[in-house]
Order: sequence, then structure tokens, then C-alpha cells
Amino acid sequence: MNQPALKSKLSITEAAPGEIGAEVFGMDVTALTHGSPEWDMLRQLIYRNKLVVIREQFGLTEQEYVDFTRKLGRPQVYFQFHYHHPDFPEIFVSNNVNEDGKKLGVAGTGRYWHTDCAFEKKPLSFTSIYPLIFPQSARETSYIDMHRVYLELPDDLRRYVDGAMAVHEGQMRYKVQASDIDRSLRELLDRVNEEVPPVTHPAVIEHPVTGEKILYISSGFTTKLVGLSYEENQRVMQALFDFVERPEHIHTHYWEEGDLIVWDNRPLIHKASAVKPGEASRSYRIGIYDDLPFYMGLEK
Ligand SMILES: [Fe+2]
Repeated sequence: MNQPALKSKLSITEAAPGEIGAEVFGMDVTALTHGSPEWDMLRQLIYRNKLVVIREQFGLTEQEYVDFTRKLGRPQVYFQFHYHHPDFPEIFVSNNVNEDGKKLGVAGTGRYWHTDCAFEKKPLSFTSIYPLIFPQSARETSYIDMHRVYLELPDDLRRYVDGAMAVHEGQMRYKVQASDIDRSLRELLDRVNEEVPPVTHPAVIEHPVTGEKILYISSGFTTKLVGLSYEENQRVMQALFDFVERPEHIHTHYWEEGDLIVWDNRPLIHKASAVKPGEASRSYRIGIYDDLPFYMGLEK
């Protein structure tokens, strides 16, 4: 990537009311200091706009990227080590370019609607992404603001989620790795269920900073609502996901070279675009805990 000229003056464009996504130019993320006014401004931007695109961050080193996330909160070390960067366990590598026959990270991650780590008792507060190699035909990531969806939810669906608990499961998204060879699917499922057993969260959560009510479900990880029959769940979950995933709810981020983005996993679900066969793709992700409860009522 090209090295930039001198950093220009800080300029911020916030999302229009009801929309998501702030755009920041002229920020030197390597110079950000924990607790400084700029740091506080960035945290508030993330909560207020849900998605923040920091432009022109060309050529950050792995160390600089990790340091940046460490200033925003506590970087996550993902529970499955085969996703890790070999020298920086905080960096989750989504990659299909393997040099010298050496596998780096995991290919084809997150191509379904989800929030990161919804299947854990304490899901991930923020996600940041820093792409290194862009595929030629797919340079976008899609988002849906689940606060807005909750506000627009028709009464015949809202009555199922208000006060309800939803079950989230990660097992069907498990990526088979080299060490799984010779294991049966039953053994694999049992092991994944042991590592990340199904969890429940309120179907409607309250944001600890903004106070917004958020429909906290996704077709990627949410399998059912507690207390409904199998048949009723099939019908209601499909109707909910059909409503959630309507085209008018989708915000698309079109990636540009140098983009570093951070979003709040509480109100947003997201989906990576599919990469065409033969196209190279590599991006770094670091999850960040902001050390607030994920939702009101959940311990930190
Ligand atoms: Fe994701």
C-alpha cells in the first residue's frame, strides 16, 4: 500500500438521523492516547454512529493495529487458535492466500448475518477490521441496525420477542481444521458443543450506553425462542429473519484502500460478501471488549 503524505486535519462526517456510519479523515490512530479527548470522541462516535470508518490508514503494522485496539478496550484472543496470526494472537485472520504452502488463518469467514460471538455468554462489544488484500469483485460488508428494526417491527412479531429469551448456537458455523481428520461429525459436534454450548440472551436487549432497545437475533446464530414449540419457532423465526433482512434495512460499506473500521456489535448484525473462486482476499480482525456490560442486566 502507498504511504500517505502528512496526515491532514481531522474531519468527521456523522451519520444522518436514523442512519449508521461515521467517516473520519485525518486521524493518526498510532498517536491515539487512552483517555485523551480524541480517544473519548472516537468511543462516543462508535456508540452514536454504530459503525466508524477511519480512512487513509495505509500500511499499519500488525503491532500498530494491535496497539490501536488496546487503546480502545481489551483485545479479544479468539477461542480457536487456528484463526490467529502466528505472531499476534489478538489478530483473527480471514485469508485465502497461502504462501509457501503454509496456511494462514481461515478462508471464507462470516458470510451470513450475525454478530460476532453471539454464541458466547459475554459477546464481543466492538469488532474492528483492517483489510490487506481486497478481492477484485467483492469489496463490501453489509450491516443492519437492529435498533431501527426493533422500532419498525410489526406488532404481530414484536409480541414474540418482547420479554422472550433467544437461543444462540455456534456449532453449525464451526470450520473444520486439519486436526479434525478421522473424527466423525458426531464427535466434532459433541466437541464444539462442549467448547461453546448453546447460550440464551434476551431477544430484545438494552444498550448500556445509548439505552436503545435492540432486537438481538441473527439468522447466522439464533436458532429459537425459548418457550415456543418446534413448529411455531420455525414459522416465527423465519418471519422475523425475513423482516430483519429486507433490502431497505441493509447498509453497505464499500471498502477503500486504507480503511480501518470499528463497529458496535450490540446494535449491528453484519455479513461479509462472498469472494469469487480464484480471487485473493486477506483481512485482519480484532475484537475489542469495551468493559461495559454487553447489555443492561448482564454482568461485565
Ligand atoms: Fe463477523
